[in-house]
Amino acid sequence: MIKRFFSSTADIPEAAAVPRHVAIIMDGNGRWAKKRLMPRVAGHAQGVERVRDIVEACIRRGIGYLTLFAFSSENWRRPQDEVNRLMELFVMALEREVDKMHRNGVCLKVVGDLSRFDQRLRDLIAQGEARTLDNARLTLTVCANYGGRWDILNAVNRWRGDNPGQDELTEDGLAAYLTLAYAPEPDLFIRTGGEQRISNFLLWQLAYAELYFTDTLWPDFDGKALDLAIASYQKRERRFGRTSEQLLER
Ligand code: IPE
Ligand code: IPE
Ligand code: MG
Repeated sequence: MIKRFFSSTADIPEAAAVPRHVAIIMDGNGRWAKKRLMPRVAGHAQGVERVRDIVEACIRRGIGYLTLFAFSSENWRRPQDEVNRLMELFVMALEREVDKMHRNGVCLKVVGDLSRFDQRLRDLIAQGEARTLDNARLTLTVCANYGGRWDILNAVNRWRGDNPGQDELTEDGLAAYLTLAYAPEPDLFIRTGGEQRISNFLLWQLAYAELYFTDTLWPDFDGKALDLAIASYQKRERRFGRTSEQLLER
């Protein structure tokens, strides 16, 4: 049974001082490598190292959910060599990191349309998820072959399959079928690499997330950079549609 979290549109969630859920578009690997006259894939390898550090940094800061955009449904459009290398890096990261994640109390989830991945990668994902299923310190979600539009359509179609003949789909009903139904909505969204766009990431779930964009490239994004993002988040007034005056009255 999935625990029901507050919906930012159906309810008014409490604004927590430390974000409960941080969602990150890890962008800028290619440019990081290019600046060093290295191939783009060297930037991806460095980016994987950063994932490890940021997972640990989130644990230390008491963040319960971290969601990382690793590969979008549109990233298949990249040169075949780069796509292949990204898949290899994903396999290597799972082989090397799951033990450590498990020891650190991390629960791993991989969401997206996994059907397009090789069987070997899918097996490693399933093993990693099964092994870490009962961990509760940090839920790390890796979005792979993920697209926000895919997530919503997939939820609608699955709901329809489970509810034949029923024609009214509610917000709650849909939310339960989205890939991140097990997590509260992200409080803080971070995009590294300087672009200010969502790139088909969590379209539904980011409804009331605080957005933070930084020019720092993902392979340079460290604990200090994370603290800057959290400090920016802490200065925001999260009104969820209300007025400032109403917030003061509470
Ligand atoms: C993000 O870095 C990683 C993936 C999309 C897989 P990029 O590879 O997009 O890096 P830039 O944006 O080209 O610098
Ligand atoms: C978004 O980055 C996807 C990931 C970080 C996995 P992109 O580099 O693919 O985004 P665009 O193409 O610049 O929007
Ligand atoms: Mg990019």
